[in-house]
Amino acid sequence: MRIKLLLASAVFAVGIGSLSCEQQKQTQEPQPAQEQKAQEVKPQEAQPPAQPQVKEEVKEVKEAVQQEVQQAQEQVKEAVKEQVQQAQEKVEEVKDQVQDKVQEIKDKIQGTEQAQAQQEAAPAVDAKALAEKKGCFSCHGIDKKKVGPAYTEVAKRYAGKESAVDELVKSIVKGSMGKWGSIPMAPQPVSEQEAKVLAEWILNIK
Ligand code: HEC
Repeated sequence: MRIKLLLASAVFAVGIGSLSCEQQKQTQEPQPAQEQKAQEVKPQEAQPPAQPQVKEEVKEVKEAVQQEVQQAQEQVKEAVKEQVQQAQEKVEEVKDQVQDKVQEIKDKIQGTEQAQAQQEAAPAVDAKALAEKKGCFSCHGIDKKKVGPAYTEVAKRYAGKESAVDELVKSIVKGSMGKWGSIPMAPQPVSEQEAKVLAEWILNIK
């Protein structure tokens, strides 16, 4: 918008310049006529001084126009420079924001990867802590029967069974009865994912 305005004023300036140039010419035109009268009287002497004067004035006008055009050009240049700079700053700003966001996402991915790696690296510790947290040990001992069967017994019974994990997950999440005695196990307050971790851990207890 500003550039357009400046361009318009530049064109205007040039217009004024050429207009004043024409005005100058017009005001000078009568001069030769006057000179001509003088020439009638003294033709040889009158002509020479007039020409340099006209040339001088035309030169001045030209210079003035040139100066104005130059000024306008500089203003336009300055404005364009400013706009470009502003745009560049904006781009930098957006770039920073994008970089921040990318970093944030990278951190998040790394965080999840680390968490996953940790879970894979030490599932036994995690599962045991989870069993403790969920109160499984109040009814189950690792190798001792309590209200429910010992986990070593469960592991023995399901050893080599392909559907073992799925079956135990189902028992933990939905409850179980009649498999180990007359006391049933109520559905446990764990997610399917947690039940899977627990079932895998129980099946690997020796
Ligand atoms: C209130 C006591 C109680 C709690 C708490 C309890 N259980 Fe049990 N659990 C039992 C009983 C009783 C059985 C035997 C059920 C049956 O005979 O089918 C059993 C059975 C099981 C079985 C064998 C299921 C099967 O299909 O053979 C697994 C595995 C098991 N529990 C895991 C857990 C886990 C993991 C937790 C903790 C999240 C837990 N239990 C909490 C009482 C409990």
